[in-house]
Amino acid sequence: MRKGIILAGGKGSRLYPATEVTSKQLLPIFDKPMIYYPLSVLMLAGIREILIISTPEDTPRFEMLLKDGSELGLHISYMVQPKPEGLPHAFILAENFLAGYPCCLILGDNLFYGNDLTTLLRSASKQKEGAIIFACKVANPEKYGVITFDKANKPQKIIEKPTSPISRFAVPGLYFYDERVSAIAKTLVPSARGELEISDLNQKYLNMNELDVMFMKRGMAWMDMGTFESLLIASNFIETVQSRHGIKIACPEEIAYRMGFISSSELKELALQRHPEDYGKYLLDLLEEE
Ligand code: G1P
Repeated sequence: MRKGIILAGGKGSRLYPATEVTSKQLLPIFDKPMIYYPLSVLMLAGIREILIISTPEDTPRFEMLLKDGSELGLHISYMVQPKPEGLPHAFILAENFLAGYPCCLILGDNLFYGNDLTTLLRSASKQKEGAIIFACKVANPEKYGVITFDKANKPQKIIEKPTSPISRFAVPGLYFYDERVSAIAKTLVPSARGELEISDLNQKYLNMNELDVMFMKRGMAWMDMGTFESLLIASNFIETVQSRHGIKIACPEEIAYRMGFISSSELKELALQRHPEDYGKYLLDLLEEE
């Protein structure tokens, strides 16, 4: 079994005033709260035991939305991170939750979509030892953790937001680690901005020769949603694909059903509770189509 963590903290200061009284990860991406997208990724990876980490103010809001997860055949728990101390701090906070299990961390503002996604997630999730991260070519790598490769595509170095261009490959906010992650996170030292860096954690696994990198190639879409422009781009993207094909992307009830976490009668029950003339209708139609 592998456990999942969604990091949904941060002040969302680049999104002021939209985030003045709510969390960035609760803002809508077209027709659903942002956190549905990373939650769906964990579910597609077959992960059912999930911890959501957020700020003292926002944690109760996520709890109101997702409850204990049992409706979706999940077990969702919550943890408050009193102040931002960097992404790997999650593994120190979550040590008891992880209880020696391997895990997958996804950032609450990252969106993934593509035909290969489930295959990638399954093969990463299967691997028990070491760490698995992804590499995705982007136009603006300086905004991300960046990874360099040698001529044989062997990873060389991972650097957080390098000032000079070293590679076009960014590392998305989706990481798989073995059971040693909390212990290794404790050995990290804060960077110049006073936080633990996920790129340093990944570099440690690389130094031990225990880091695998999977490529997100053409046909895979990866976006982060931290600015007004990126919110709009992500919303437009979701709307375009959904309306063309008459599907919903990141519909947790649908995924729970397709993954076998809930039965058809449980899906029907959920549909009737969730505005059966609208959102629920989509779920009822799925059952009809079958
Ligand atoms: C974080 C990570 C960075 C990663 C990015 C993905 O950056 O530190 O390595 O590439 O998420 O979204 P942040 O968005 O917190 O600046």
